Amino acid sequence: MSTSQWLACAAFSVFCVSQASSLDTFVAAVYEHAVIQPNVSQSPVSHKEALALMNQNLDVLEGAITAAAKQGAHIIVTPEDAIYGMRFSRDAIYPYLEDIPDPQVNWIPCNDPDRFGYTPVQERLSCLAKNSSIYVVANIGDKKPCNASDLQCPPDGRYQYNTDVVFDSEGKLIARYHKQNLFMSEEQFDAPKEPEFVTFNTPFGKFGIFTCFDILFHDPAVALVRDFQVDTILFPTAWMDVLPHLTAIGFHSAWAMGMGVNFLASNIHQPLQRMTGSGIYAPDSPRAFHYDRKTQEGKLLISQLDSHPHHPAVNWSSYASSIEVMSMRNQEFKSIAFFDEFTFVELKGITGNYTVCQKDLCCHLRYQMAEKRVDETYALGAFDGLHTVEGQYHLQICTLLKCKTTDLHTCGSSVDTASTKFAMFSLSGTFGTQYVFPEVLLSEVKLAPGEFQVSSDGRLFSLEPTSGPVLTVTLFGRVYEKDGVTNVSSDSRTHSLLIMLIIMTPIMHALFL
Ligand SMILES: *[C@@H]1O[C@H](CO)[C@@H](O)[C@H](O)[C@H]1NC(C)=O
Ligand SMILES: *[C@@H]1O[C@H](CO)[C@@H](O)[C@H](O)[C@H]1NC(C)=O
Ligand SMILES: *[C@@H]1O[C@H](CO)[C@@H](O)[C@H](O)[C@H]1NC(C)=O
Ligand SMILES: *[C@@H]1O[C@H](CO)[C@@H](O)[C@H](O)[C@H]1NC(C)=O
Ligand SMILES: *[C@@H]1O[C@H](CO)[C@@H](O)[C@H](O)[C@H]1NC(C)=O
Ligand SMILES: *[C@@H]1O[C@H](CO)[C@@H](O)[C@H](O)[C@H]1NC(C)=O
Repeated sequence: MSTSQWLACAAFSVFCVSQASSLDTFVAAVYEHAVIQPNVSQSPVSHKEALALMNQNLDVLEGAITAAAKQGAHIIVTPEDAIYGMRFSRDAIYPYLEDIPDPQVNWIPCNDPDRFGYTPVQERLSCLAKNSSIYVVANIGDKKPCNASDLQCPPDGRYQYNTDVVFDSEGKLIARYHKQNLFMSEEQFDAPKEPEFVTFNTPFGKFGIFTCFDILFHDPAVALVRDFQVDTILFPTAWMDVLPHLTAIGFHSAWAMGMGVNFLASNIHQPLQRMTGSGIYAPDSPRAFHYDRKTQEGKLLISQLDSHPHHPAVNWSSYASSIEVMSMRNQEFKSIAFFDEFTFVELKGITGNYTVCQKDLCCHLRYQMAEKRVDETYALGAFDGLHTVEGQYHLQICTLLKCKTTDLHTCGSSVDTASTKFAMFSLSGTFGTQYVFPEVLLSEVKLAPGEFQVSSDGRLFSLEPTSGPVLTVTLFGRVYEKDGVTNVSSDSRTHSLLIMLIIMTPIMHALFL
Protein backbone atom coordinates (compact mmCIF):
# COMPACT_ATOMS: atom_id res chain seq x y z
CA MET A 1 0.00 0.00 0.00
CA SER A 2 1.42 3.38 -0.95
CA THR A 3 1.89 6.39 1.26
CA SER A 4 -0.84 8.34 -0.45
CA GLN A 5 -3.26 5.47 0.08
CA TRP A 6 -2.39 5.41 3.73
CA LEU A 7 -2.90 9.16 4.06
CA ALA A 8 -6.28 8.73 2.42
CA CYS A 9 -6.96 6.01 4.99
CA ALA A 10 -6.11 8.37 7.79
CA ALA A 11 -8.89 10.65 6.61
CA PHE A 12 -11.40 7.79 6.46
CA SER A 13 -9.97 5.68 9.19
CA VAL A 14 -13.29 4.10 10.06
CA PHE A 15 -13.15 2.18 6.78
CA CYS A 16 -9.62 0.99 6.68
CA VAL A 17 -8.34 -0.03 10.07
CA SER A 18 -7.34 -3.46 8.81
CA GLN A 19 -5.64 -2.08 5.73
CA ALA A 20 -3.72 0.42 7.80
CA SER A 21 -2.23 -2.45 9.77
CA SER A 22 -0.33 -3.60 6.70
CA LEU A 23 1.44 -0.57 5.30
CA ASP A 24 4.34 -1.75 3.12
CA THR A 25 6.24 1.50 3.24
CA PHE A 26 6.34 4.63 5.34
CA VAL A 27 7.95 8.03 5.28
CA ALA A 28 10.56 8.73 7.96
CA ALA A 29 12.04 12.05 9.03
CA VAL A 30 15.05 12.90 11.18
CA TYR A 31 16.06 16.37 12.25
CA GLU A 32 19.62 17.47 12.98
CA HIS A 33 19.19 20.28 15.50
CA ALA A 34 21.60 23.09 16.36
CA VAL A 35 20.70 23.04 20.04
CA ILE A 36 20.47 26.31 21.92
CA GLN A 37 22.62 25.62 25.01
CA PRO A 38 21.98 27.17 28.40
CA ASN A 39 24.53 29.81 29.33
CA VAL A 40 25.74 28.14 32.50
CA SER A 41 25.03 24.48 33.03
CA GLN A 42 26.88 23.79 36.30
CA SER A 43 24.67 25.65 38.80
CA PRO A 44 20.89 25.27 38.97
CA VAL A 45 18.55 27.83 37.39
CA SER A 46 14.88 28.31 38.27
CA HIS A 47 12.20 26.12 36.72
CA LYS A 48 11.01 29.15 34.83
CA GLU A 49 14.40 29.80 33.25
CA ALA A 50 14.81 26.12 32.44
CA LEU A 51 11.42 26.04 30.72
CA ALA A 52 12.18 29.22 28.78
CA LEU A 53 15.35 27.63 27.37
CA MET A 54 13.55 24.38 26.54
CA ASN A 55 10.78 26.29 24.77
CA GLN A 56 13.37 28.06 22.61
CA ASN A 57 14.58 24.67 21.41
CA LEU A 58 11.01 23.37 21.09
CA ASP A 59 10.15 26.36 18.88
CA VAL A 60 12.80 25.17 16.42
CA LEU A 61 11.76 21.51 16.70
CA GLU A 62 8.13 22.55 16.10
CA GLY A 63 9.16 24.00 12.74
CA ALA A 64 10.83 20.72 11.78
CA ILE A 65 7.90 18.59 12.99
CA THR A 66 5.27 20.58 11.09
CA ALA A 67 7.44 20.69 7.96
CA ALA A 68 7.98 16.92 8.11
CA ALA A 69 4.26 16.28 8.55
CA LYS A 70 3.44 18.53 5.58
CA GLN A 71 5.79 16.40 3.46
CA GLY A 72 3.95 13.24 4.45
CA ALA A 73 6.25 11.89 7.16
CA HIS A 74 4.68 9.35 9.54
CA ILE A 75 7.38 9.67 12.17
CA ILE A 76 10.11 12.15 13.09
CA VAL A 77 13.14 11.61 15.32
CA THR A 78 14.80 14.53 17.13
CA PRO A 79 18.24 14.33 18.80
CA GLU A 80 19.51 13.47 22.25
CA ASP A 81 19.99 16.57 24.43
CA ALA A 82 18.15 18.62 21.80
CA ILE A 83 15.80 20.31 24.26
CA TYR A 84 18.18 21.38 27.06
CA GLY A 85 21.75 20.87 25.86
CA MET A 86 24.47 18.92 27.65
CA ARG A 87 27.33 18.94 30.16
CA PHE A 88 25.28 19.59 33.28
CA SER A 89 26.08 18.76 36.86
CA ARG A 90 23.57 16.55 38.65
CA ASP A 91 21.95 19.51 40.41
CA ALA A 92 22.00 21.78 37.39
CA ILE A 93 19.94 19.41 35.20
CA TYR A 94 17.27 18.99 37.88
CA PRO A 95 15.05 21.99 36.96
CA TYR A 96 14.82 20.62 33.41
CA LEU A 97 13.47 17.20 34.45
CA GLU A 98 9.84 16.03 34.47
CA ASP A 99 8.18 12.96 35.94
CA ILE A 100 7.57 10.76 32.89
CA PRO A 101 5.03 8.02 33.64
CA ASP A 102 5.09 4.46 32.34
CA PRO A 103 3.26 4.56 28.98
CA GLN A 104 0.89 1.85 30.27
CA VAL A 105 -1.07 4.64 32.02
CA ASN A 106 -2.53 5.48 28.60
CA TRP A 107 -2.03 9.22 28.63
CA ILE A 108 -2.45 11.97 26.04
CA PRO A 109 -0.75 14.93 27.78
CA CYS A 110 -2.22 17.36 25.24
CA ASN A 111 -5.75 16.40 26.37
CA ASP A 112 -5.01 15.92 30.07
CA PRO A 113 -1.99 18.07 30.93
CA ASP A 114 -2.27 18.02 34.74
CA ARG A 115 -2.65 14.29 35.31
CA PHE A 116 0.99 13.71 36.35
CA GLY A 117 1.93 17.03 37.93
CA TYR A 118 3.70 19.82 36.12
CA THR A 119 4.80 18.42 32.74
CA PRO A 120 4.85 21.29 30.21
CA VAL A 121 7.46 19.70 27.93
CA GLN A 122 5.52 16.45 27.59
CA GLU A 123 2.36 18.46 26.99
CA ARG A 124 3.95 20.46 24.21
CA LEU A 125 5.48 17.41 22.49
CA SER A 126 2.14 15.59 22.72
CA CYS A 127 0.29 18.54 21.18
CA LEU A 128 2.84 18.81 18.39
CA ALA A 129 2.35 15.12 17.55
CA LYS A 130 -1.41 15.39 17.77
CA ASN A 131 -1.74 18.65 15.87
CA SER A 132 0.42 17.43 13.01
CA SER A 133 -0.78 13.83 13.21
CA ILE A 134 2.75 12.44 13.25
CA TYR A 135 4.72 10.21 15.63
CA VAL A 136 7.24 12.35 17.51
CA VAL A 137 10.41 10.94 19.08
CA ALA A 138 12.24 13.20 21.55
CA ASN A 139 14.86 13.03 24.29
CA ILE A 140 14.11 14.60 27.69
CA GLY A 141 14.97 14.00 31.34
CA ASP A 142 12.98 11.86 33.78
CA LYS A 143 13.11 12.13 37.59
CA LYS A 144 11.99 9.44 40.02
CA PRO A 145 12.14 9.81 43.81
CA CYS A 146 13.66 6.99 45.82
CA ASN A 147 14.52 6.47 49.50
CA ALA A 148 16.72 4.58 51.91
CA SER A 149 14.72 1.38 51.47
CA ASP A 150 16.48 1.23 48.08
CA LEU A 151 20.21 0.70 48.72
CA GLN A 152 21.13 2.16 45.33
CA CYS A 153 19.14 5.35 45.84
CA PRO A 154 21.53 8.30 45.23
CA PRO A 155 22.21 10.61 48.23
CA ASP A 156 19.94 13.33 46.80
CA GLY A 157 16.97 10.96 46.98
CA ARG A 158 16.14 10.67 43.31
CA TYR A 159 17.05 8.91 40.10
CA GLN A 160 17.65 11.10 37.06
CA TYR A 161 17.39 9.42 33.68
CA ASN A 162 18.39 10.37 30.16
CA THR A 163 15.08 9.43 28.52
CA ASP A 164 13.63 8.98 25.05
CA VAL A 165 9.89 9.44 24.68
CA VAL A 166 7.57 8.66 21.77
CA PHE A 167 4.14 10.24 21.20
CA ASP A 168 1.89 8.66 18.57
CA SER A 169 -0.08 10.60 15.98
CA GLU A 170 -2.88 11.19 18.51
CA GLY A 171 -0.45 12.62 21.03
CA LYS A 172 -0.44 9.57 23.30
CA LEU A 173 2.74 8.69 25.19
CA ILE A 174 3.54 5.22 23.80
CA ALA A 175 7.20 4.67 24.70
CA ARG A 176 9.67 5.69 27.40
CA TYR A 177 13.28 4.49 27.33
CA HIS A 178 15.91 5.21 30.00
CA LYS A 179 19.41 5.21 28.47
CA GLN A 180 21.47 2.26 29.69
CA ASN A 181 25.02 2.95 28.52
CA LEU A 182 25.76 6.45 29.76
CA PHE A 183 28.85 8.10 28.36
CA MET A 184 31.73 8.95 30.72
CA SER A 185 30.81 12.61 31.21
CA GLU A 186 27.10 12.05 31.87
CA GLU A 187 27.35 12.36 35.63
CA GLN A 188 24.00 14.19 35.72
CA PHE A 189 22.18 10.92 34.98
CA ASP A 190 21.71 7.46 36.48
CA ALA A 191 21.53 4.25 34.46
CA PRO A 192 18.51 2.02 35.10
CA LYS A 193 19.24 -1.08 37.20
CA GLU A 194 18.37 -3.38 34.31
CA PRO A 195 18.42 -2.61 30.59
CA GLU A 196 14.99 -1.68 29.23
CA PHE A 197 13.84 -3.25 25.97
CA VAL A 198 11.33 -0.74 24.62
CA THR A 199 9.33 -1.56 21.50
CA PHE A 200 6.00 -0.53 19.99
CA ASN A 201 3.92 -1.55 17.01
CA THR A 202 2.59 0.78 14.33
CA PRO A 203 0.76 0.29 11.02
CA PHE A 204 4.22 0.62 9.44
CA GLY A 205 6.21 -1.94 11.39
CA LYS A 206 7.66 -2.67 14.80
CA PHE A 207 9.97 -0.12 16.38
CA GLY A 208 12.71 -0.25 18.99
CA ILE A 209 14.58 2.61 20.60
CA PHE A 210 17.98 3.28 22.19
CA THR A 211 20.34 6.21 22.64
CA CYS A 212 23.82 7.17 21.43
CA PHE A 213 26.57 5.17 23.26
CA ASP A 214 24.10 2.25 23.61
CA ILE A 215 24.93 1.38 19.99
CA LEU A 216 28.29 -0.11 21.00
CA PHE A 217 26.80 -2.66 23.41
CA HIS A 218 24.60 -5.74 23.32
CA ASP A 219 21.82 -4.57 25.61
CA PRO A 220 19.43 -3.27 24.67
CA ALA A 221 20.59 -2.59 21.08
CA VAL A 222 21.33 -6.06 19.70
CA ALA A 223 18.58 -7.76 21.71
CA LEU A 224 15.93 -5.44 20.23
CA VAL A 225 16.81 -6.70 16.77
CA ARG A 226 17.66 -10.32 17.51
CA ASP A 227 15.11 -11.20 20.21
CA PHE A 228 12.36 -8.60 19.77
CA GLN A 229 12.66 -8.51 15.97
CA VAL A 230 12.02 -4.86 15.42
CA ASP A 231 11.98 -3.50 11.86
CA THR A 232 13.22 0.01 12.61
CA ILE A 233 15.47 1.50 15.28
CA LEU A 234 14.92 5.04 16.55
CA PHE A 235 18.22 6.61 17.59
CA PRO A 236 18.46 10.02 19.22
CA THR A 237 22.15 10.85 19.63
CA ALA A 238 24.69 13.55 20.47
CA TRP A 239 27.59 11.99 18.62
CA MET A 240 31.04 13.37 18.10
CA ASP A 241 32.83 11.98 15.07
CA VAL A 242 35.89 9.85 15.65
CA LEU A 243 37.75 8.93 12.49
CA PRO A 244 38.43 6.48 10.98
CA HIS A 245 35.82 4.02 12.27
CA LEU A 246 33.37 5.88 14.50
CA THR A 247 31.99 8.72 12.44
CA ALA A 248 28.27 9.19 12.98
CA ILE A 249 27.14 8.54 9.41
CA GLY A 250 29.74 5.81 8.81
CA PHE A 251 29.09 3.78 11.92
CA HIS A 252 25.31 4.23 12.16
CA SER A 253 24.76 3.25 8.52
CA ALA A 254 27.07 0.26 9.08
CA TRP A 255 25.02 -0.87 12.10
CA ALA A 256 21.82 -0.74 10.00
CA MET A 257 23.43 -2.93 7.35
CA GLY A 258 25.09 -5.33 9.78
CA MET A 259 21.92 -5.84 11.84
CA GLY A 260 19.49 -5.79 8.89
CA VAL A 261 17.19 -3.04 10.20
CA ASN A 262 16.08 0.45 9.28
CA PHE A 263 17.89 2.99 11.44
CA LEU A 264 16.76 6.58 12.03
CA ALA A 265 19.69 8.54 13.47
CA SER A 266 19.15 12.10 14.62
CA ASN A 267 22.25 13.96 15.83
CA ILE A 268 22.67 17.40 17.32
CA HIS A 269 24.49 19.96 15.21
CA GLN A 270 27.61 21.47 16.80
CA PRO A 271 30.17 21.44 14.01
CA LEU A 272 32.92 23.05 16.12
CA GLN A 273 32.81 19.96 18.35
CA ARG A 274 32.58 17.67 15.29
CA MET A 275 29.00 16.88 16.24
CA THR A 276 27.15 16.42 12.96
CA GLY A 277 25.93 13.46 10.95
CA SER A 278 22.32 12.26 10.80
CA GLY A 279 20.66 9.81 8.48
CA ILE A 280 17.87 7.52 7.38
CA TYR A 281 19.49 4.15 6.76
CA ALA A 282 17.96 1.02 5.26
CA PRO A 283 19.82 -2.29 5.58
CA ASP A 284 20.79 -2.36 1.91
CA SER A 285 21.85 1.27 1.68
CA PRO A 286 21.58 4.75 3.21
CA ARG A 287 18.47 6.55 1.91
CA ALA A 288 19.38 10.05 3.12
CA PHE A 289 22.23 11.44 5.17
CA HIS A 290 23.58 14.79 6.25
CA TYR A 291 27.09 15.81 7.30
CA ASP A 292 27.93 19.49 7.54
CA ARG A 293 30.89 21.04 9.32
CA LYS A 294 30.55 24.39 7.53
CA THR A 295 27.24 25.92 8.61
CA GLN A 296 25.42 26.41 11.91
CA GLU A 297 22.05 25.36 10.47
CA GLY A 298 19.82 22.46 11.43
CA LYS A 299 18.63 20.07 8.72
CA LEU A 300 15.49 18.04 8.07
CA LEU A 301 15.89 14.73 6.21
CA ILE A 302 12.94 12.80 4.80
CA SER A 303 12.85 9.47 3.02
CA GLN A 304 10.62 6.51 2.30
CA LEU A 305 11.46 3.12 3.84
CA ASP A 306 10.11 -0.42 3.70
CA SER A 307 8.06 -1.17 6.81
CA HIS A 308 9.51 -4.69 7.04
CA PRO A 309 12.98 -4.57 5.49
CA HIS A 310 14.40 -7.88 4.40
CA HIS A 311 18.02 -8.73 4.93
CA PRO A 312 19.68 -12.04 4.01
CA ALA A 313 21.84 -13.80 6.60
CA VAL A 314 25.61 -13.45 6.34
CA ASN A 315 28.27 -15.83 7.62
CA TRP A 316 31.04 -13.32 8.31
CA SER A 317 33.89 -15.81 8.40
CA SER A 318 32.89 -18.21 5.66
CA TYR A 319 34.91 -16.81 2.75
CA ALA A 320 37.96 -15.71 4.75
CA SER A 321 38.34 -19.08 6.46
CA SER A 322 38.05 -20.91 3.15
CA ILE A 323 41.12 -19.38 1.50
CA GLU A 324 44.78 -19.99 2.12
CA VAL A 325 46.70 -17.43 4.10
CA MET A 326 49.83 -16.06 2.51
CA SER A 327 52.02 -14.83 5.34
CA MET A 328 53.25 -11.24 5.03
CA ARG A 329 54.90 -11.15 8.46
CA ASN A 330 58.04 -9.45 7.20
CA GLN A 331 56.05 -6.48 5.91
CA GLU A 332 53.92 -5.93 9.02
CA PHE A 333 54.01 -2.84 11.24
CA LYS A 334 52.01 -1.59 14.23
CA SER A 335 50.11 1.67 14.44
CA ILE A 336 47.27 3.07 16.54
CA ALA A 337 43.69 3.83 15.54
CA PHE A 338 41.62 5.44 18.34
CA PHE A 339 43.83 3.98 21.11
CA ASP A 340 43.88 0.46 19.66
CA GLU A 341 47.11 -0.99 18.26
CA PHE A 342 46.46 -2.48 14.84
CA THR A 343 48.73 -4.74 12.80
CA PHE A 344 49.08 -3.26 9.30
CA VAL A 345 50.60 -3.97 5.91
CA GLU A 346 51.12 -1.21 3.37
CA LEU A 347 49.34 -1.49 0.02
CA LYS A 348 52.36 -1.13 -2.22
CA GLY A 349 50.94 -1.78 -5.66
CA ILE A 350 48.14 -0.30 -7.75
CA THR A 351 46.52 -3.73 -7.42
CA GLY A 352 47.04 -6.54 -4.95
CA ASN A 353 45.92 -9.43 -2.81
CA TYR A 354 46.90 -8.97 0.85
CA THR A 355 46.47 -10.68 4.19
CA VAL A 356 47.17 -9.39 7.69
CA CYS A 357 46.46 -11.16 10.98
CA GLN A 358 46.24 -10.24 14.67
CA LYS A 359 45.45 -12.88 17.29
CA ASP A 360 42.43 -14.86 16.03
CA LEU A 361 41.56 -12.47 13.20
CA CYS A 362 42.97 -12.66 9.68
CA CYS A 363 41.85 -10.01 7.19
CA HIS A 364 41.99 -10.44 3.43
CA LEU A 365 41.84 -7.68 0.86
CA ARG A 366 41.78 -7.80 -2.90
CA TYR A 367 41.85 -4.32 -4.46
CA GLN A 368 42.64 -2.20 -7.44
CA MET A 369 43.28 1.53 -7.18
CA ALA A 370 42.37 3.89 -10.02
CA GLU A 371 45.94 5.21 -9.72
CA LYS A 372 48.85 4.67 -7.30
CA ARG A 373 49.80 8.12 -6.02
CA VAL A 374 53.21 8.75 -4.46
CA ASP A 375 51.74 11.31 -2.04
CA GLU A 376 49.24 8.91 -0.42
CA THR A 377 49.67 5.71 1.59
CA TYR A 378 46.98 3.10 2.18
CA ALA A 379 47.22 0.14 4.52
CA LEU A 380 45.29 -2.99 5.44
CA GLY A 381 44.91 -3.43 9.20
CA ALA A 382 43.65 -6.00 11.71
CA PHE A 383 42.72 -5.53 15.36
CA ASP A 384 41.47 -8.20 17.76
CA GLY A 385 41.27 -7.01 21.34
CA LEU A 386 39.58 -5.15 24.14
CA HIS A 387 39.16 -1.41 23.65
CA THR A 388 39.41 0.21 27.09
CA VAL A 389 39.41 3.98 26.76
CA GLU A 390 35.99 5.67 26.90
CA GLY A 391 34.29 2.32 27.47
CA GLN A 392 35.25 -1.34 27.57
CA TYR A 393 34.32 -3.28 24.45
CA HIS A 394 35.97 -6.13 22.54
CA LEU A 395 36.54 -5.45 18.85
CA GLN A 396 37.55 -7.44 15.79
CA ILE A 397 38.23 -5.03 12.96
CA CYS A 398 39.45 -5.48 9.39
CA THR A 399 40.17 -2.15 7.74
CA LEU A 400 41.53 -0.66 4.57
CA LEU A 401 42.36 2.94 5.32
CA LYS A 402 44.21 5.98 4.11
CA CYS A 403 47.13 6.88 6.38
CA LYS A 404 47.23 10.51 7.47
CA THR A 405 50.59 11.07 5.76
CA THR A 406 53.00 8.79 3.92
CA ASP A 407 54.66 8.06 7.30
CA LEU A 408 53.43 4.60 8.32
CA HIS A 409 53.08 5.66 11.96
CA THR A 410 50.13 7.84 10.93
CA CYS A 411 48.11 4.87 9.69
CA GLY A 412 44.94 4.92 11.82
CA SER A 413 45.20 8.62 12.71
CA SER A 414 42.25 10.85 11.99
CA VAL A 415 42.21 12.14 8.39
CA ASP A 416 39.16 13.31 6.46
CA THR A 417 40.37 13.94 2.94
CA ALA A 418 41.90 11.66 0.29
CA SER A 419 42.60 11.63 -3.45
CA THR A 420 42.75 7.94 -4.41
CA LYS A 421 39.69 6.30 -5.93
CA PHE A 422 39.45 2.52 -6.01
CA ALA A 423 38.41 0.59 -9.12
CA MET A 424 37.45 -2.36 -6.91
CA PHE A 425 37.82 -3.82 -3.43
CA SER A 426 36.82 -7.01 -1.63
CA LEU A 427 37.43 -7.26 2.12
CA SER A 428 36.78 -10.21 4.43
CA GLY A 429 37.96 -11.61 7.76
CA THR A 430 37.92 -14.72 9.95
CA PHE A 431 35.51 -13.16 12.44
CA GLY A 432 34.55 -15.00 15.60
CA THR A 433 31.25 -13.11 15.81
CA GLN A 434 28.07 -12.69 13.82
CA TYR A 435 27.97 -8.98 14.68
CA VAL A 436 29.97 -7.22 12.01
CA PHE A 437 29.18 -3.74 10.68
CA PRO A 438 30.36 -2.89 7.14
CA GLU A 439 31.47 0.69 6.56
CA VAL A 440 32.63 2.54 3.47
CA LEU A 441 33.62 6.17 3.96
CA LEU A 442 34.75 8.48 1.18
CA SER A 443 36.78 11.69 1.24
CA GLU A 444 35.28 14.62 3.17
CA VAL A 445 33.23 12.12 5.23
CA LYS A 446 30.74 10.96 2.63
CA LEU A 447 28.88 7.69 2.32
CA ALA A 448 28.77 5.60 -0.85
CA PRO A 449 25.14 4.47 -1.15
CA GLY A 450 24.61 1.69 -3.67
CA GLU A 451 28.32 1.32 -4.44
CA PHE A 452 29.01 -1.80 -2.36
CA GLN A 453 27.40 -4.95 -1.01
CA VAL A 454 27.97 -7.80 1.39
CA SER A 455 27.86 -11.40 0.12
CA SER A 456 26.39 -14.24 2.15
CA ASP A 457 29.93 -15.62 2.71
CA GLY A 458 31.06 -12.39 4.37
CA ARG A 459 32.83 -10.33 1.71
CA LEU A 460 32.36 -6.57 1.61
CA PHE A 461 32.88 -5.77 -2.06
CA SER A 462 32.48 -2.88 -4.47
CA LEU A 463 29.78 -3.00 -7.15
CA GLU A 464 31.41 -0.28 -9.21
CA PRO A 465 34.46 1.99 -8.99
CA THR A 466 34.12 4.31 -5.98
CA SER A 467 32.48 7.64 -6.80
CA GLY A 468 35.02 9.45 -4.62
CA PRO A 469 38.44 8.96 -3.04
CA VAL A 470 38.45 6.41 -0.21
CA LEU A 471 39.04 7.15 3.47
CA THR A 472 38.21 3.68 4.74
CA VAL A 473 36.59 0.36 3.90
CA THR A 474 35.99 -1.48 7.16
CA LEU A 475 34.41 -4.55 8.72
CA PHE A 476 33.81 -3.49 12.33
CA GLY A 477 33.12 -6.59 14.45
CA ARG A 478 31.91 -6.71 18.04
CA VAL A 479 32.57 -9.70 20.31
CA TYR A 480 30.11 -8.86 23.09
CA GLU A 481 30.80 -11.94 25.20
CA LYS A 482 34.41 -10.86 25.72
CA ASP A 483 33.59 -7.37 27.03
CA GLY A 484 33.78 -8.46 30.68
CA VAL A 485 37.26 -9.95 30.51
CA THR A 486 39.60 -7.42 32.08
CA ASN A 487 43.15 -8.17 31.13
CA VAL A 488 44.91 -4.86 30.68
CA SER A 489 48.05 -5.40 28.68
CA SER A 490 51.28 -4.69 30.51
CA ASP A 491 53.42 -4.01 27.48
CA SER A 492 55.29 -0.77 26.89
CA ARG A 493 52.27 0.79 25.24
CA THR A 494 50.32 1.18 28.47
CA HIS A 495 52.36 4.13 29.65
CA SER A 496 51.96 6.14 26.44
CA LEU A 497 48.28 5.26 26.36
CA LEU A 498 47.85 6.73 29.82
CA ILE A 499 49.52 9.94 28.75
CA MET A 500 47.34 10.12 25.66
CA LEU A 501 44.32 9.53 27.84
CA ILE A 502 45.19 12.46 30.08
CA ILE A 503 45.64 14.72 27.07
CA MET A 504 42.46 13.44 25.48
CA THR A 505 40.19 13.57 28.52
CA PRO A 506 38.66 17.01 27.85
CA ILE A 507 37.94 15.90 24.30
CA MET A 508 36.63 12.53 25.39
CA HIS A 509 34.14 14.21 27.66
CA ALA A 510 32.24 15.46 24.69
CA LEU A 511 32.31 12.16 22.83
CA PHE A 512 29.28 9.90 22.33
CA LEU A 513 26.91 11.56 24.77
C1 LIG B 1 22.67 33.91 27.54
O1 LIG B 1 23.19 35.16 27.90
C2 LIG B 1 23.03 36.16 26.91
C3 LIG B 1 23.74 37.42 27.37
O2 LIG B 1 23.62 37.59 28.74
C4 LIG B 1 21.54 36.39 26.65
O3 LIG B 1 21.37 37.38 25.65
C5 LIG B 1 20.93 35.08 26.19
O4 LIG B 1 19.55 35.21 26.02
C6 LIG B 1 21.20 33.99 27.20
N1 LIG B 1 20.77 32.72 26.64
C7 LIG B 1 20.04 31.88 27.31
C8 LIG B 1 19.71 30.62 26.61
O5 LIG B 1 19.66 32.08 28.45
C1 LIG C 1 -2.62 22.82 18.04
O1 LIG C 1 -3.65 23.29 17.20
C2 LIG C 1 -4.57 24.13 17.88
C3 LIG C 1 -5.70 24.42 16.93
O2 LIG C 1 -5.25 24.59 15.62
C4 LIG C 1 -3.84 25.37 18.32
O3 LIG C 1 -4.73 26.20 19.03
C5 LIG C 1 -2.73 24.97 19.25
O4 LIG C 1 -1.97 26.09 19.62
C6 LIG C 1 -1.83 23.97 18.56
N1 LIG C 1 -0.87 23.53 19.51
C7 LIG C 1 0.40 23.36 19.20
C8 LIG C 1 1.27 22.89 20.29
O5 LIG C 1 0.85 23.57 18.09
C1 LIG D 1 9.89 5.09 50.69
O1 LIG D 1 9.80 4.06 51.64
C2 LIG D 1 8.51 3.74 52.06
C3 LIG D 1 8.62 2.62 53.08
O2 LIG D 1 9.62 2.91 53.98
C4 LIG D 1 7.62 3.35 50.91
O3 LIG D 1 6.31 3.13 51.36
C5 LIG D 1 7.63 4.43 49.87
O4 LIG D 1 6.88 4.02 48.75
C6 LIG D 1 9.03 4.76 49.47
N1 LIG D 1 9.04 5.84 48.52
C7 LIG D 1 9.67 5.78 47.36
C8 LIG D 1 9.60 6.99 46.49
O5 LIG D 1 10.32 4.81 47.01
C1 LIG E 1 30.37 -20.02 8.88
O1 LIG E 1 31.23 -20.61 7.94
C2 LIG E 1 32.30 -21.36 8.54
C3 LIG E 1 33.24 -21.77 7.43
O2 LIG E 1 32.55 -22.17 6.29
C4 LIG E 1 31.71 -22.52 9.29
O3 LIG E 1 32.75 -23.26 9.90
C5 LIG E 1 30.77 -21.98 10.37
O4 LIG E 1 30.14 -23.04 11.04
C6 LIG E 1 29.73 -21.06 9.77
N1 LIG E 1 29.03 -20.41 10.85
C7 LIG E 1 27.71 -20.38 10.94
C8 LIG E 1 27.14 -19.65 12.11
O5 LIG E 1 26.99 -20.91 10.11
C1 LIG F 1 44.73 -14.18 -3.16
O1 LIG F 1 45.53 -14.90 -2.25
C2 LIG F 1 44.92 -16.02 -1.68
C3 LIG F 1 45.83 -16.57 -0.62
O2 LIG F 1 47.09 -16.87 -1.15
C4 LIG F 1 44.58 -17.03 -2.76
O3 LIG F 1 43.92 -18.12 -2.21
C5 LIG F 1 43.71 -16.35 -3.80
O4 LIG F 1 43.46 -17.21 -4.87
C6 LIG F 1 44.35 -15.08 -4.32
N1 LIG F 1 43.42 -14.40 -5.15
C7 LIG F 1 43.79 -13.75 -6.25
C8 LIG F 1 42.71 -13.12 -7.03
O5 LIG F 1 44.94 -13.68 -6.60
C1 LIG G 1 45.84 -12.20 30.32
O1 LIG G 1 47.07 -11.91 29.68
C2 LIG G 1 48.09 -12.85 29.93
C3 LIG G 1 49.38 -12.35 29.30
O2 LIG G 1 49.15 -11.88 28.00
C4 LIG G 1 47.66 -14.22 29.40
O3 LIG G 1 48.66 -15.19 29.67
C5 LIG G 1 46.36 -14.62 30.08
O4 LIG G 1 45.90 -15.85 29.52
C6 LIG G 1 45.30 -13.55 29.88
N1 LIG G 1 44.12 -13.87 30.64
C7 LIG G 1 42.90 -13.83 30.10
C8 LIG G 1 41.78 -14.15 31.03
O5 LIG G 1 42.70 -13.55 28.94
